[in-house]
Amino acid sequence: MAFGWIDEQAELRRRAGLVRTLGPRPADSPLLDLASNDYLGLARHPEVTEGSARAARAWGGGATGSRLVTGTTELHAELERELADFCGFEAALVFSSGYAANLAAVTALAPHGSLIVSDAGNHASLIDGCRLARGTTQVVAHAEPDAVRKALQTHDGPAVVVSDTVFSVDGDAAPLAGLAEACREHGAGLVVDDAHGLGVLGDGGRGAPQASGLAGAGDVVVTVTLSKSLGSQGGAVLGPARVIDHLVNAARTFIFDTGLAPAATGAALAALRLLRREPERAARARAVARELHARLTAAGLEAVRPDAAVVSVRAPSPEGAVRWAAECRAAGLAVGCFRPPSVPDGISRLRLTARADLTEGQIERAVRVIRETRP
Ligand SMILES: Cc1ncc(COP(=O)(O)O)c(C=O)c1O
Repeated sequence: MAFGWIDEQAELRRRAGLVRTLGPRPADSPLLDLASNDYLGLARHPEVTEGSARAARAWGGGATGSRLVTGTTELHAELERELADFCGFEAALVFSSGYAANLAAVTALAPHGSLIVSDAGNHASLIDGCRLARGTTQVVAHAEPDAVRKALQTHDGPAVVVSDTVFSVDGDAAPLAGLAEACREHGAGLVVDDAHGLGVLGDGGRGAPQASGLAGAGDVVVTVTLSKSLGSQGGAVLGPARVIDHLVNAARTFIFDTGLAPAATGAALAALRLLRREPERAARARAVARELHARLTAAGLEAVRPDAAVVSVRAPSPEGAVRWAAECRAAGLAVGCFRPPSVPDGISRLRLTARADLTEGQIERAVRVIRETRP
């Protein structure tokens, strides 16, 4: 029977407690939200929603074509200029998602005959970039510049090292300075995904590369998403102008993809301008994460010390994690739930995101619910 193997896979998933289901989010959810990636609380900020609405009214509901044909508006160009300037890079290129930005950066910068050195904890979109690239990938131990060094020593030719700046599962930061040093010893490029760093780390949220002194470096390329701290949708690659020009000409997820919708572009631009005006939002998101971690560990829970705004709490099993998250939800708290195959080490977790706009009372309530529903 066609697709018969799907039923077998579904049965295996069911037995392992790994079935995923979709739960629509109402427009006005009564839940306390520690599950979204809206780190700075900007997704519903009136300036951001107005930026989105204004752009849709001016340019329409969609971009109407690829960026190279009809899909580039003035807003795309403004967003690229302002993002590059904010993060300290020469140029930027906006994509329809962070996922597409990662596929673009890795595939276009790792041609046939090159080596890609990829951290074992990297996000799926970087992993898929490695799979699609013509270069050969070597996966190395998580957050270990020496492992990167060793891998680079095995290769004679172009090489690129790819890593998240903040890992999405545990919220730990990559050793960016050490990675850059290893790259420079071997003349390799460094591509880092700052999805969870932009808006949270660095001066006023300028991102992890800026915090590590790598902003504007000629051998560093950064990818970001517009869907987390900027409360919109879309992605971007930032780096030297010659790299950005190369992507315009070579990145398939740029060339063969409809441009980012005007509404999302307008929202991201409004959010970026707001962040410039209110840089304290970044430090507040980090402080909320530290506070959540301190209170959770004081309550005897096993949580990873957050380097940015992601707080990860260990769960006993995939089923335990699903039950725990469901009980939190029943008690009015939305939390993320990570379990295999979305985790590299097989350990299931509750994943909490700190938001800059959480109050002390909300933090206290969240910790109480998590503690009381613990399996
Ligand atoms: C580390 C990381 N990179 C890339 C992405 C993909 O970004 P987008 O959702 O904009 O496609 C995500 C999550 O969504 C992420 O967590």
